[in-house]
Amino acid sequence: MAKREHWGSKFGFVLAASGSAIGLGNIWKFPYIAGQNGGAAFIFVYLICIAIVGLPVVIAEILMGRTTQRNPVGAFRKLSGNKFWITIGGLGVVAGFIILSFYAVVAGWSTGYMIEALRGAFSSLTTAEQANTHFNLLVGDPTWMIGFYTIFFVFTMAFVFLGVKDGIEKGSKIMMPILFIILIILMIKGISLKGSEEGLAFLWKPDWSKITGQSVLIALGHSFFTLSLGMGALMTYGSYLDKKSNIPNAAVQIVFLDTLIALMAGVAIFTAVFAMGQDPAGGPGLIFNTLTVVFGSMTGGYIFGLLFFVLLTVAALTSAISLLEVVVAYFVDERGWSRHQAVLIFGSLVFLFGIPSALSFNLLADLTYNGKTFFDIVDFIASNVLLPVGGFFISIFVAWIWGFDKALIELKHGAENIFKNRTWLVTTFKVFLKYISPVMIFIVFLHSVGLLESAIEQVQNYWIIIVLVIVILVIILSRNRMKK
Ligand code: TRP
Repeated sequence: MAKREHWGSKFGFVLAASGSAIGLGNIWKFPYIAGQNGGAAFIFVYLICIAIVGLPVVIAEILMGRTTQRNPVGAFRKLSGNKFWITIGGLGVVAGFIILSFYAVVAGWSTGYMIEALRGAFSSLTTAEQANTHFNLLVGDPTWMIGFYTIFFVFTMAFVFLGVKDGIEKGSKIMMPILFIILIILMIKGISLKGSEEGLAFLWKPDWSKITGQSVLIALGHSFFTLSLGMGALMTYGSYLDKKSNIPNAAVQIVFLDTLIALMAGVAIFTAVFAMGQDPAGGPGLIFNTLTVVFGSMTGGYIFGLLFFVLLTVAALTSAISLLEVVVAYFVDERGWSRHQAVLIFGSLVFLFGIPSALSFNLLADLTYNGKTFFDIVDFIASNVLLPVGGFFISIFVAWIWGFDKALIELKHGAENIFKNRTWLVTTFKVFLKYISPVMIFIVFLHSVGLLESAIEQVQNYWIIIVLVIVILVIILSRNRMKK
């Protein structure tokens, strides 16, 4: 077997993993859910979720990858050998396949909007309704939609085709600094607008009355998506690390950068939205409807609008790359394919699978099931089912099956001085990984599939107990097997 490729440097890994984490989730989704859930108070809850659930699972995923030097399926196989756990790894590969297919559709909008910005199309938009009509016109056109979807996809495949060091790492080293610089420029522009204080106050002055159980769950669910957790993306990236690398240190940097970029995007967007008198709670259309009007009316809006959509597209690209890499790594490690074969064949298959999602906004808009389009359904299955299930079992696996103590020995490689004389750090990590993360993720999962409400309503809903019993049984069974 060929020698496994490794990152050129630890910095390269941190940039690539941050590139995976920083994406549409940070720049498109985070601002609009923060806007809808009352701003500052929501952000506060989100930060807590990132710290207590996100960080431990980021560490767990990277650690599994580095220890086994394998894709998610291979990682579970090497550490346990139990079929159930190998299937969990397989779910990750499937999730990567599905998420990429609809993620690239939204990224296609962003790619197309770069051209809209270039054409100067925003200057004729004066109200959010007009912008919305414009948006619907574009995504309603199958040629426009499929065209930009295809362009985005070709770029994604090209970077993965070039390999870990020459494609993903090099690409991230160029794209991430560009992203950062553009965001700083947009932030400065936003803050310098007259009336931007209102936007800043929206972000920093919490209104606790806006925090409901619902918004806490949204924050928790989003912290998972934004950190690329639950399907082995970070596990796969971690598998290209060597034993000398310091995982806790890298994980903190990745989580910090991801959070920083989301907050910066919030500042850039809300200062502009408030200064131009627009509605912060514009929902998923916040960027395409509200923000385009803002660009249409501000001085220099042409160039800032263009920069913004370059930023969004670049962020989406480095994330899409990580999704495809999970699928490719599986076929390379487990099935002995060459990287190039795997990229061409599976890249094309994901591309084909995404076409009905791209057509969900035009030709196939009427093809619905329970009022959900194909796009809505694949999004729901991946984001609300596969990711929480994956995240839950990854944390359970590392903490209980592989075993916290064994995992800790691996974690200490490269991180000796962090843990030296700090038993409190070990204890904290242990408590979070063993109890707090799985329980919180489980709650998000119930909420995601809409079962939490009904479970609370009907106390006789004993199926939760059944699920818990099954989980505990699986744990006990696979533990016994490992001892043999
Ligand atoms: N984290 C990315 C974002 O915020 C999306 C993403 C990339 C992702 N890879 C992932 C989400 C793996 C879940 C799992 O846009």
